[in-house]
Amino acid sequence: MTYLPKDKIVYFATSNIHKYTEACQVLSECKIVTAMLKKIEAMEIQDDNLANIAKFSVIDATRKCHLPIIVEDAGLFIEALNGFPGPYSSYVYRTIGNDGILKLIKNIIERKACFKSVVAFHSPERVEPMCFRSEVEGKIVREKRGSQGFGFDPIFEPLNSSKTFAEMPFEEKNRHSHRGFALCKFAKWFTSNR
Ligand code: IMP
Repeated sequence: MTYLPKDKIVYFATSNIHKYTEACQVLSECKIVTAMLKKIEAMEIQDDNLANIAKFSVIDATRKCHLPIIVEDAGLFIEALNGFPGPYSSYVYRTIGNDGILKLIKNIIERKACFKSVVAFHSPERVEPMCFRSEVEGKIVREKRGSQGFGFDPIFEPLNSSKTFAEMPFEEKNRHSHRGFALCKFAKWFTSNR
């Protein structure tokens, strides 16, 4: 059995296998091994600010598990809807889904949107969690396209791409995505501070 030095493992508290797969790929490029903390049930608050949500969850998860942990919180912000669903993306996806969003903006020509991500890291040795933010601009397409990924991937096309996230393999999505960029920022900081 191979033992890894503890300072090279980061635990990702998530039940979303897609987020976990995306994170493993980005972090492994910086020689960081990622393990999934699936059953931890980290508490999630409702807040207008993604960083507050991610920070609260990572503090709670670290208190329960005594490990170096990351939590990631993301949201889709649609300009024509004044940023809706934003921090309420999870609820909106579960209730009206992609079809509901497409219906809401059916007659709207201006379809600018952005995805925002906050990666929060905390560990038993730290006083405060660290947050790494990123966002990508793009648009909501007129019809769902693609079958990969999750959530709003089939309706979001990032700037400078003719594909939606759901038309990209996860390695390609990582090169264009809010989460890929936020994880890269975390990885750079983590490798120079561990
Ligand atoms: P969460 O709270 O970070 O899990 O994200 C809120 C909701 O936004 C999720 O339920 C997803 O439907 C959606 N979401 C988050 N990240 C992505 C992404 O990378 N692609 C598509 N949808 C996403």
